[in-house]
Amino acid sequence: MSPLHTPKFKNPRARYNFQGRSCSITGVGSYVPSRILTNADLEKMVDTSDEWITTRTGIKQRRIAADNEFTSDLATQAARRALKDAGVNSEDVELIIVATITPDMPFPSTAALVQRNLGAWRAAAFDLEAACSGFIYALEVAQQFIMSRTYDTVLVIGAEKLSSIVDWQDRNTCVLFGDGAGAAVLQNRPGSHGLLTAVMGADGRKADLLFVAGGGSRCPATAESVAARMHYLRMEGKETFKNAVQAMQVAAEEAMRRCEVDISRIKCIIPHQANRRIIEAVGERLGASPEQMFTNLHKYGNTSAASVGIALDEAVHSGRFHRGDLILLLAFGGGLTWGSALIEW
Ligand code: UT7
Repeated sequence: MSPLHTPKFKNPRARYNFQGRSCSITGVGSYVPSRILTNADLEKMVDTSDEWITTRTGIKQRRIAADNEFTSDLATQAARRALKDAGVNSEDVELIIVATITPDMPFPSTAALVQRNLGAWRAAAFDLEAACSGFIYALEVAQQFIMSRTYDTVLVIGAEKLSSIVDWQDRNTCVLFGDGAGAAVLQNRPGSHGLLTAVMGADGRKADLLFVAGGGSRCPATAESVAARMHYLRMEGKETFKNAVQAMQVAAEEAMRRCEVDISRIKCIIPHQANRRIIEAVGERLGASPEQMFTNLHKYGNTSAASVGIALDEAVHSGRFHRGDLILLLAFGGGLTWGSALIEW
């Protein structure tokens, strides 16, 4: 396996509380559809078993959006909860970033549809695509806009209706994924706690480990491409697994190096929820205790760009950490992409 490179940031302290600016997460929220698909349900759909899914992944159930419920709807619900949590009115949002690989349609962006749903008329809006790393990529982009004095209030959402690109005949993938959305409000809060640093990385040489081949300019939808099931997600599970562990380790170590903290200082690590065995392996490599690692994938499966946002919301509201604690977000996904964010809560 080739090494995964992450650009080294030269001056770790420069972006935190820089020239009277600071980027704080002032509210979080999440939403999952009400329909639950259990492992027992999947046993009736493909040749699989609760035992296989549980031991290989840790997943017990996932949420599936209704036929008339789309990514923008999930995103809007999560956003409303995050805005309420932050005490921010939608008219005060200046930028909306939606991280997703399952937009409602190629264009307009899902972010524009969310802006319409929220009545956030002052906000610019765009989508960001970094697969399962999308939420962390979006946090970093939001931070850049806040620290550069462009905006004071940014809404970041990770939202997916993965059930729309899952091949329900492919047991290798259909047992893994679910639908949902997580959101965070980021604001300039000078002198306050906040996002210390965010790491982003990518390796396009490994683009063919995890992809949807059809539906883009390379292979527009035709009767043949649809018949060949090219509009569904495909994944090389084993290779993806190995890269996931390595990439999240690299991203975590870079974030801690920049901020000169070691693993014992981190109160809670919130990794992308793809596979319990991946999370355990990353924790072991980092020297973290099982208590430091947050997991909720048994309830939701892998929700791609939504996963870290949903987990962050649950961790915050279940009292896993308190003001002043250091928390570390980690993600990995198709692209390949990976990222981390170190936050003083
Ligand atoms: O979010 C983006 C990042 N995604 C990930 O990080 C996912 C990374 N990959 C994984 O989590 C794991 O590789 C999987 C859960 C996808 C697969 O676990 P694995 O331990 O790597 O299993 P495998 O692919 O080596 O498959 C082992 C066996 C195969 O049978 P044979 O060839 O050994 O006879 C598969 O056909 O398990 C079989 N298998 C299944 N059996 C029952 C694959 N899927 C299933 C299934 N039920 N659903």
